[in-house]
Amino acid sequence: MEALVVFLPGDGIGPEVSAAAGQVLQTVAAKWELPLRIREYPIGGASLAQFQTPITREALEACRRAAAVFLGAVGDPRWDDKPREQKPETALLTLRKALNVYANLRPVKVFPVLSRASALREEVVRGTDFLVVRELTGGIYFGEPRGHTERRGWDTMVYLREEVERIARLAFRLARQRRKKVTSVDKANVLEVSRFWRKVVKQVRRGFPDVTLEHLYVDNAAMQMVQNPHQFDVILTANMFGDILSDIGGAVSGSLGLLPSASIGESVALYEPVHGSAPDIAGRGIANPVAAIASVAMMFTHSFRLPQAGRLIEQAIEKTLNEGYGTPDIAGPGIRTVSTREMTGRILENLQKLWEENTTGAVV
Ligand code: NAD
Ligand code: IPM
Ligand code: MN
Repeated sequence: MEALVVFLPGDGIGPEVSAAAGQVLQTVAAKWELPLRIREYPIGGASLAQFQTPITREALEACRRAAAVFLGAVGDPRWDDKPREQKPETALLTLRKALNVYANLRPVKVFPVLSRASALREEVVRGTDFLVVRELTGGIYFGEPRGHTERRGWDTMVYLREEVERIARLAFRLARQRRKKVTSVDKANVLEVSRFWRKVVKQVRRGFPDVTLEHLYVDNAAMQMVQNPHQFDVILTANMFGDILSDIGGAVSGSLGLLPSASIGESVALYEPVHGSAPDIAGRGIANPVAAIASVAMMFTHSFRLPQAGRLIEQAIEKTLNEGYGTPDIAGPGIRTVSTREMTGRILENLQKLWEENTTGAVV
């Protein structure tokens, strides 16, 4: 049976990086003889322009039926001042909620060859490897009431016990496969919702006595991430804090254009680069495709349960970077600047080489 993969390229650089992701997906699926049916729908500004809604019912239904969903990026300055129902970003929030993908996994790794691309000192970032486990379908992004008038604006940050429990359990389980340390990030010195979060996380930890748990306030966590990113293994945090901290992770790794993510829940998972539609560079063919391609690697590992295929993609990315190729966002000593298309082509070539080495006996 064919597996349905829905592609939602979206806005700005979304379509540019989605094209790269699609090529890698098809190439690798063919090697593993995984039959795919790929369907594409507009989302965000692209959908608003065509259908006057940020996501159509048809697109949502297709995503619900899919084995996996890939999203490029949504957001377009043309829709910046519109009400919520007419904002591109609303499509993404609707989709996450509809698919119940409550956990957003955002790995941050520093490629050795890029440790000089980081805005931070090489010795500070080298070897950094952490995973942000961001709660994705609750918190201040979804709390009611919310609104604004001429004189007042408000949102509500609320978490239910079961929402905190399920994301915390996942973070502890993932930590067991890593270095067994969870850092829960909150603002419990000020917010009631964070005091509740911390209490529930401590209770969940009782089931994982082999995992170390520490708590940091989000302001301190942001500082620590810049000053000493090595200390982190799994960072467990709420929706908005995770959004902010993962962009700092982009600066640590060298570029937001490098960071992939998987949003997982009970059934279908959604794969999305951490970055947005980058209107400042859209249409120029220079977007970094690595975040999108690495998100496809996560799709093979999590949705298709083919971790070797995921690893092959990751190795092809690293080999290409090691050979000194990179888009302008990671320009620096030892990096030859190439376009999105050339970077993708080189990653595909290296994929092929690694595949051939593997099938002739070397280990992937
Ligand atoms: P952004 O992530 O789009 O861009 C931030 C900076 O990083 C820009 O300078 C951009 O050029 C650079 N950048 C991002 N991705 C890159 C890549 N792949 N290659 C090279 N450089 C890259 O954030 P923003 O500018 O604050 O937001 C732009 C729009 O995107 C907004 O409408 C926002 O709401 C939306 N957005 C969407 C998503 C998503 O769809 N998942 C995520 C973040 C922001
Ligand atoms: C992200 C983005 C989204 C978020 C926006 C576009 C809704 O910033 O995926 O990081 O805040 O979750
Ligand atoms: Mn974000």
